[in-house]
Amino acid sequence: MRQIALAAAIAVTGAAALAQSPEDAVEGRHGFMTMLSIEMGALAGMAKGEVPYDEAMATAAARNLMALASYDAPKLFVEGTSSEDLDDSDALPAIWQDREDFEAQFAALQEAAQGIDQQVTGGQESLGPVVQKLGVTCRDCHDSYRLDR
Ligand code: HEC
Repeated sequence: MRQIALAAAIAVTGAAALAQSPEDAVEGRHGFMTMLSIEMGALAGMAKGEVPYDEAMATAAARNLMALASYDAPKLFVEGTSSEDLDDSDALPAIWQDREDFEAQFAALQEAAQGIDQQVTGGQESLGPVVQKLGVTCRDCHDSYRLDR
């Protein structure tokens, strides 16, 4: 009996995952990108001296960026959610025309984020190069795949 109930529960969960709406996917990736931007902003603010350097804050932001970069964000770019399909999507159709390149651009961000928690320590001057190498990956992907409004 218990086994049957468990199998039923798994079946229901699986169905719910498949039924994820296009709107949820768009909302999810907007939240994901906003979180990236909040953590980048924390590092950039300290790098520019707008906010005093604080090693604990820099390390926390770096760890959050590493956690975000390890999330499989490309999966939120489901078919039928381009800027031509939905009003609140800025995801260019090019993403689905060259999926491999889009995923490579995300992999570039993942690679740039590796070990940054160790790289933002020791003082304000450590932050510039980290913000720079991550920022390039944001910009490269946006240039090709994000609608410029
Ligand atoms: C692999 C490609 C890719 C990478 C890498 C990437 N982005 Fe994005 N970003 C997108 C796309 C595509 C959109 C448009 C998504 C949409 O509207 O559905 C977007 C949208 C955004 C938005 C707007 C979100 C909203 O609510 O409309 C922000 C902010 C953002 N990105 C920040 C960043 C930052 C900061 C980084 C780097 C740390 C980054 N992105 C890296 C592809 C990328």
